[in-house]
Amino acid sequence: MSTSILQASNISHGFDYPLFANIDFELKVHESKAILGRSGLGKSTLLHIFSTFIKPNSGYIKLFDRDIYSLDENEIEHIRRYDLGIIFQTHYLFKGMTALENLEIATMLADTNIDNSLIEKLEISDNMYQKIGDLSGGQQQRVSIARVLSKKPKIIFADEPTGNLDKETSYLVMEVLLDYIKNNDASLVWVTHDENMAKFCDKRYLLKNQKLNEI
Ligand SMILES: Nc1ncnc2c1ncn2[C@@H]1O[C@H](COP(=O)(O)OP(=O)(O)O)[C@@H](O)[C@H]1O
Ligand SMILES: [Mg+2]
Repeated sequence: MSTSILQASNISHGFDYPLFANIDFELKVHESKAILGRSGLGKSTLLHIFSTFIKPNSGYIKLFDRDIYSLDENEIEHIRRYDLGIIFQTHYLFKGMTALENLEIATMLADTNIDNSLIEKLEISDNMYQKIGDLSGGQQQRVSIARVLSKKPKIIFADEPTGNLDKETSYLVMEVLLDYIKNNDASLVWVTHDENMAKFCDKRYLLKNQKLNEI
């Protein structure tokens, strides 16, 4: 299969000064691509642009062949709810609820079912009845990844999701995400400053001098 999931064309953006210009990027089903680059160069901004959250100053983004910044709020909400898996640095779990309840909310909203094999792979089976506030940071992060994948998204945007995890857990998370996209006809954009993690993706790109180039 080579269906295009994400197509970014001629993207330029900046806030107080230009961050990047004329960026093209494409992602097909089953593909994983890593975006590397030093801190402050605009990696997170680019990911927000790709994922419906920031309209770029110029250029267009197509997700599933639809020009996302020309859609109305309801259509964008629909795409966010059913198709996108967003794993950003800060996660938004409900702290007073158990891990299981957090997953149940996600599956209820997306009309999916909890996938026990995913919970086992992420090594959080024993934590399901614990309150989020009682889990370690690394366990919370894995619950939040389980919650995102429970929605069965078609494209995953991950922004340094393993930044606070030890090496072994980081590899585990990477393996789970790559397995997921293979088995669910999905794809992955992974933003990181860690070249070792980036090596696991099909392709690597470097954001530098306002350009995004394959390395
Ligand atoms: N909403 C915003 N308003 C103004 N400036 C912003 C905003 N978001 C990011 N920036 C600035 O854009 C630059 C790039 O930020 P970011 O995309 O987070 O970089 P990276 O993820 O590569 O570290 C930074 O200088 C940051 O302060
Ligand atoms: Mg960032």
